[in-house]
Amino acid sequence: MSQINKENVLKALSKVDDPDLKRDLVTLKMVKDIIIEGKKITANIELTTPACPLKDTIKNNCVIAIKAEIPEATEIIIDMSSNVSEHLNQSKNAIMPGVKNTIAVASGKGGVGKSTVAVNLAIALAKDGAKVGIIDADIYGPSMPLMLGLGNKFGLIQDPETKKLAPLESHGIKIMSIGFMIDDDNPVIWRGPMASGALKQFMTDVSWGNLDYLIYDLPPGTGDIQLTLVQTIPLTGAVIVTTPQEVSLIDAKKGFKMFERVNVPIFGIIENMSYFIAPDTGKKYDIFGSGGGEKLAVKLNSKLLGSIPIDSRIREGGDSGLPIVVSLPDSENAKIITEIARNLAAQISIKNANDKLSDVEIQL
Ligand SMILES: Nc1ncnc2c1ncn2[C@@H]1O[C@H](COP(=O)(O)OP(=O)(O)O)[C@@H](O)[C@H]1O
Ligand SMILES: [Mg+2]
Repeated sequence: MSQINKENVLKALSKVDDPDLKRDLVTLKMVKDIIIEGKKITANIELTTPACPLKDTIKNNCVIAIKAEIPEATEIIIDMSSNVSEHLNQSKNAIMPGVKNTIAVASGKGGVGKSTVAVNLAIALAKDGAKVGIIDADIYGPSMPLMLGLGNKFGLIQDPETKKLAPLESHGIKIMSIGFMIDDDNPVIWRGPMASGALKQFMTDVSWGNLDYLIYDLPPGTGDIQLTLVQTIPLTGAVIVTTPQEVSLIDAKKGFKMFERVNVPIFGIIENMSYFIAPDTGKKYDIFGSGGGEKLAVKLNSKLLGSIPIDSRIREGGDSGLPIVVSLPDSENAKIITEIARNLAAQISIKNANDKLSDVEIQL
C-alpha cells in the first residue's frame, strides 16, 4: 500500500501518457502542483493548449492512475490548466515577440470556404480559452470585416507613442484587415511587392500583444504573390482547405507542394462543403463527391483534420457577421468545426514538442 504523499502521486502520474505527445506527464513537465490534504489529493496538470481534444481522457487517466497507486485516497481532484507551447523560431523572431504560433490557412482555389473556415477556427480556439488573432492576408478580397461584423468600422486607432495600430476585436478575437483601411467600392489593385509590404506592416505596425495563435487567411492560389507572402510570414505551419471535387483537389495539392518547397510544415487538410444533409429528410448527399480530402491527405502523407458539410447556416453566419460557432454553438456543424480546431491545436503542440526535443538533442 502506497502512502499518500507527493512522491507516490508523481509515481502514478508518470504512468499517464499524453496520447498526442507520446510521453508521460512527469517527463513532459505537465504536473505543476500536487496538494495533499489528509486523504484528499489535488493535482494540477498544465496542457500545451486549452483546446486539447484529449483533455477529458487525460484527466480520467490521471484519476485512474492515482487510484491504482494510492487506493486509500478518498478524493482525487485533477485541475486542468494550459500554457500554449511556443513555436521555437517564434521566440527568436522579434517581429511579434508576444505571438506564440502563426498558422496560415491556405487553399489552391478561391471560393472553397477558406475565410469561413479560418474565422470559425479562430473563434473556436478563443472559446476554448486561447488568445487568438487573425490577419486578413487576402489583400485583394478582404472578407474579415463582413464575416466578423466589422463592415462599417473605419478609422483604426494609432498609439501616439509607439505609433502602432490597435487591431479590432470581435467575438473574442483580434483582427487586422486591409478592409479596415479602404472602402468596399474601390478594388485594390496592388502589385505583389506592395501586397507583401502591407502584410509586413500588419505584423510590424500592429499591437498584437500576447497571442497563442495568430491565423493568416491567405489569398487563394499558388502564384508568386502567395509564395512571397509565405516567405514573408514567420510560420509555425499551414493548413489547406479544399472541397472534395477534383478541380479543387488538384489546386490543393499545388498549395501543399508550395509550402513543402519553402519548408513550412503542413498540419493537415480540411475538407469543406463535404456533403449535405437535407434538413427535412436527414438524407446525406455527396454534392461534390466524397472522400477527396481523405485521399489527398493519404497521398501527401498528411492528415485530414476534419470535414465540414454544406450548410446554409454556415453561409448565413459569414454574411451576417455571426459565424456559426457563435450563432449556433450547439449545432452539429459548430461542434465539427470545434473538433477540427482542437485537432489543429493538438498538431501544433505535437510539432512544438518535437522541435523542442530535437533542439535539445542538437545542443547535447
Ligand atoms: N460549409 C459551408 N456551407 C455553406 N456555405 C459555405 C460553407 N463554407 C463556405 N461557404 C460559403 O461559400 C462562400 C465562399 O466562402 P469563403 O469563405 O469566402 O471562401 P474563400 O475564402 O475560400 O474564397 C461564402 O459565401 C461562404 O459563406
Ligand atoms: Mg477568402
